[in-house]
Amino acid sequence: MPFECIVTETRGHVGLIRLDRPKALNALSDALLTELGEALDAFEADAAIGCIVLTGSDKAFAAGADIKEMAKLDFLTAYMGDFAQRIDRVARCRKPLVAAVSGYALGGGCELAMSCDFILAADSARFGQPEITLGIMPGMGGTQRLARLVGRSKAMDMVLTGRMMDAAEAERAGLVSRIFPADSLLEETLKIAEKIADLSLPIAMMAKETVNRAEEVSLAEGLRFERRLFHAMFATEDQKEGMAAFIEKRAPHFSGR
Ligand code: HXC
Repeated sequence: MPFECIVTETRGHVGLIRLDRPKALNALSDALLTELGEALDAFEADAAIGCIVLTGSDKAFAAGADIKEMAKLDFLTAYMGDFAQRIDRVARCRKPLVAAVSGYALGGGCELAMSCDFILAADSARFGQPEITLGIMPGMGGTQRLARLVGRSKAMDMVLTGRMMDAAEAERAGLVSRIFPADSLLEETLKIAEKIADLSLPIAMMAKETVNRAEEVSLAEGLRFERRLFHAMFATEDQKEGMAAFIEKRAPHFSGR
C-alpha cells in the first residue's frame, strides 16, 4: 500500500505497521492518523492476519500529536473536526494489536500506545504526557487510560508535571508488560505476535473483547460476559482441536473456525 506517513508489511501472519515521519519524530498528523486507520482496516479485513504490531523508530514511537497542526486550531475547528476521536479507530481494532515502543512515546504517542492491547518497550523507551507544558491536557484518552493503567497518583504526577517515565518505571507501574534491549525489541515483538497469530483468531478476539470489558462494567457483569463467551467457545472447531491436540500430545492446528 502506498502510504506517506507509515510503512506496512506482512511478516507471516503478522501485520506490521511502522510510523514513519522521522523528521517530526512520528508526530501524529491528520494524514498519519488517516493512513493508520486505513492500514488497520486492511489488516483487519485480511483473514490471513492474526495479530498486528504497531511500532515507530528507534528514536521515537511518536512524540505526540502534531503541534504545528494543532497550533492553528480554534475552538470550533477543534470541536467540529474532533481530531482527538481518531484514536478510537485504534482502540476499536478487534484483532490483537501490540505496541512496540522505542524512544519517545509522548502525549498522543503515549495515548496511541495505550490504545493498543499491550505495550512491549525497549530499554530506551520514555513515556510522558507533556501536554500541560503546551497549555493543554491529554485529549486522546491520556487522563483516562493512564489513570486506569498506573493508578491515580502516578497519572496525576505525569499529567500535572509533564515529566517522562523511563522503561523500568513504566514496567513497574504496569504501563508496559515487558522490556527488551532496544536492538532486539522488534524481533522479540514479532516472535510474540507470531505466537498469538498461530492461536485461534476468533478465540483471541473474544479473549481481547472480554478483558476490555473489565474496564467498562461491574465485576458481576464482566464475569457474566466472560461466562457467556467461555461457553460459546465450545461451539468452535478450534476448542475441539486445541484439546484433542493436548490429549494426543501434538501441536494444535487452529483453523479459525
Ligand atoms: C510536531 C514535532 C513534535 C510534535 C517533535 N517534533 N515533536 N513536530 N509535533 N509533537 C519535531 C521538532 O519540531 C523538530 O522539527 C523535530 O521533530 C525533532 O525534534 P527536536 O525537538 O529537535 O528533537 P529533540 O531535541 O531530540 O527532542 C525530542 C523531544 C521534543 C523531547 C521529543 O521533540 C519534544 O519535546 N517534542 C514535543 C513533545 C510533546 O510535547 N508532545 C505532546 C504533544 S501534544 P524541526 O523542524 O525543528 O527539525 C499532544 C496532544 C494529544 O500530543 C491530544 C490531541 C488531541
